[in-house]
Amino acid sequence: MSLSKKIVVAVSGSIAAYKACDFISLLKKRGHQVRVILTPSGEKFISKTSLQALSQSPVYQDDFSPESLMAHIELGQWCDLAIVYPATANHINGFAAGIGEGLLHSFFLAFDFKKPFLIAPAMNTRMLFHPATLRSLETLKQWGCHLLPSEEGSLACGEVGEGRLLTPEKAVAFVDSQFSDESPLQKRILITAGGTRETIDGVRTLTNMSTGKTGAEIADALHERGHKVLLLTSKYAVMPKSDVKVDTYESFREIRNTLRALAQSKPFDLIVHAAAISDYSIASIETPDGEVQPGLEKMSSEHDNISIRLTRNEKILPKLKDLFSGDPVVVGFKLTSTESKEEQAKAIFRLFDKGGVDYVVHNDMTDINKGVRNYLLTSNAGEQKKLNSTESLSETLSELLNSKTHEVSHDLVP
Ligand SMILES: Cc1cc2nc3c(=O)[nH]c(=O)nc-3n(C[C@H](O)[C@H](O)[C@H](O)COP(=O)(O)O)c2cc1C
Repeated sequence: MSLSKKIVVAVSGSIAAYKACDFISLLKKRGHQVRVILTPSGEKFISKTSLQALSQSPVYQDDFSPESLMAHIELGQWCDLAIVYPATANHINGFAAGIGEGLLHSFFLAFDFKKPFLIAPAMNTRMLFHPATLRSLETLKQWGCHLLPSEEGSLACGEVGEGRLLTPEKAVAFVDSQFSDESPLQKRILITAGGTRETIDGVRTLTNMSTGKTGAEIADALHERGHKVLLLTSKYAVMPKSDVKVDTYESFREIRNTLRALAQSKPFDLIVHAAAISDYSIASIETPDGEVQPGLEKMSSEHDNISIRLTRNEKILPKLKDLFSGDPVVVGFKLTSTESKEEQAKAIFRLFDKGGVDYVVHNDMTDINKGVRNYLLTSNAGEQKKLNSTESLSETLSELLNSKTHEVSHDLVP
């Protein structure tokens, strides 16, 4: 990558501060200029000398040393992008509260948010999910900061959970994505997720059990790899953790209309259609008092019988390829509830029958009920690849895009 940008890396007092060394090395290898802010607590975890040597630049530490009296203003003017890597709960909450104590806080307050400001949280899971931290992250997102997702895994405190600092490689991909038009690897991706809700009356709906979690996780993972992701998900679904762009729908009609509108925008390279779209919408409702319009005020619960007539919805998946310009790679999802491999295979290949689908991701309820994520990715040429996490599925989707082929390239299973 040839573009050289000016980047401020702020290192705060997390046990993960040592990862800033690799992060800075990677930025330097990519030709960027780096200046470092190190908080006093950060220095307890990583030496100023290491950061200075790696960044080949002085490390900024407090507002009162004569050579850096105006550093909180000047660093912001100098840089093209700032990233707090790692960001402690203390600084995240301090930023959101407008605290001005110390160089990093005042640097944040004086920052020109027309430039990207990235925050990579690193902390114990309970610190991350503390209402104060959650509220601060939400505030920072609203103010235009880019929140990098943290990862799940074993934490320094010995616990397992969320809050691990994003790896240096992934954080660099995020930095690159901010200068996106210059990154040839960045692709435009549309992901649909969640389940439709058809309104019966003012308080009742017809829906399904989709949570939207898989779609949100894929969106996070692809966003993390630097792609430009739009997640179109149900209003009631699990939302992504990172600042992926989200649009929402409620009913079949709404998602169909939104897709039609999106088809008019810039072409997508990949469409992952993971939404669980109801096969039927409500056509009419018959009560002993006569027919009522769906969606109107609450029906009486005194009736002995109510008939709801359903009407078949058109299938969205086979139409995507024609609807969207630019020949996007189209990936459909098939959830089965049978342990019979033969039935599962039939269900997968039925999705290819109508054409317009490049890949099908299959998973089965038996695995989901056991809390296991097993996916089988099948190409329309019949090649298959087993993937045992949403992360590895996302990685394969990203690789498919970057290799620009519509084929599963390796680890094929018969
Ligand atoms: C061993 C140790 C590890 C810590 N790790 C973290 C951490 O990963 N994330 C965090 O938010 N705070 C962590 N803390 C607490 C912060 O260091 C503390 O809140 C500090 O005041 C943060 O300072 P700063 O935000 O000014 O850098 C840790 C503290 C200790 C003693």
